[in-house]
Amino acid sequence: MDHLPSVAATSIDEVMRGFVPTRRFAHVSFDSYQPDHRYPSQRVARDRLREFAARIGQARRAHLLKRLVRTPTHGSRAIYLDGGYGVGKTHLLAATYHAVGEQCLYLSFAELAYTISRLGLEPTLAALEDTRLVCIDEFELDDVAQTRMAAMFLRRLLQRRGEPCSVVTTSNTLPSDLGRGRFAAEAFQREIGDIAANFDVASIDGQDYRHRHWDELALGAAEMESASALRCAYDEDPAPERKRVLLDADCLARELARVHPVHYAQIASRLEALFVEHLGRIDNQAAALRLVHFVDKLYDQAVRLTLSTREKLPLGEIFSLAYRHGGYEKKYRRCLSRLHELIVETRALRNGVGR
Ligand SMILES: Nc1ncnc2c1ncn2[C@@H]1O[C@H](COP(=O)(O)OP(=O)(O)OP(=O)(O)O)[C@@H](O)[C@H]1O
Ligand SMILES: [Mg+2]
Repeated sequence: MDHLPSVAATSIDEVMRGFVPTRRFAHVSFDSYQPDHRYPSQRVARDRLREFAARIGQARRAHLLKRLVRTPTHGSRAIYLDGGYGVGKTHLLAATYHAVGEQCLYLSFAELAYTISRLGLEPTLAALEDTRLVCIDEFELDDVAQTRMAAMFLRRLLQRRGEPCSVVTTSNTLPSDLGRGRFAAEAFQREIGDIAANFDVASIDGQDYRHRHWDELALGAAEMESASALRCAYDEDPAPERKRVLLDADCLARELARVHPVHYAQIASRLEALFVEHLGRIDNQAAALRLVHFVDKLYDQAVRLTLSTREKLPLGEIFSLAYRHGGYEKKYRRCLSRLHELIVETRALRNGVGR
């Protein structure tokens, strides 16, 4: 049986250097974003971010000329892109990063939370000293500790002395609704209000390009490979031996539990193809959330993914059915949508149709 690529203990600098747009978004731009004319909010959001990126460049030049010290900053320092699945939020986030170019950091909110919990708030802020734009994908609050951490982090980052830092973030949830259904968010309205107050919200509407819903996914038993077809696909995959991994689902779960999730992105970036066999229903919420985070990284890095399930379990039912109505419902929905997309993309590649 294979193993996931091992990740050595890395320094804070190495972890920080890894926070760049992922393979899937390595080359996107404002120009390659095509707003859907049926949803004017898409064009509005794109133009607003383009302007925001240009302003960061100007602020940088002003700072270098030492003029910023007494110059009030015009406009907001932080933008919150809110919208449903697959409307292009991450595309615009990465486009903002590429437009600003230097001294930027791009990471998911989960990675930010893991980084702060692992390294501590002060060392993380210190490592961001020269950063002028932080792009945070998928802002969401899972618990009270994260809420406090996020409120403190944003306050310190946005109000720091010296070179100003801006933030752009994406989310499926409006700032004022963060945490709802996951913990007693009503008891933390002050912190959630503090977080929300940092941002100007840009809402994007539109359709999920992936068009995946529970019902469609529930029909997806045919999406899954048989165990023998999976082995065959593994043998024929063109990736070099060390970038192509075949694992039993239980083994994958154990390996994911052994590694700190902050390293999942590094693991995914070292893989070209992953084959997971005998996936059964996951009834352990911690294991399920680890898998969700790992799938996000596989999706971001456009890793070819092939799955086989036990007893013809459809893709849409791999997570306990109880999770469909719990506080993390959105996370699981998004994960299944991405899993579906990855599996379909991988199959298209195998059949000789380009990605
Ligand atoms: N208007 C657009 N023009 C060009 N490409 C787009 C547009 N909208 C989305 N895409 C592409 O569709 C894919 C999905 O978009 P993206 O991941 O940015 O959506 P999202 O809103 O972040 O979704 P999610 O809820 O999964 O986070 C990406 O590959 C992106 O480049
Ligand atoms: Mg996204």
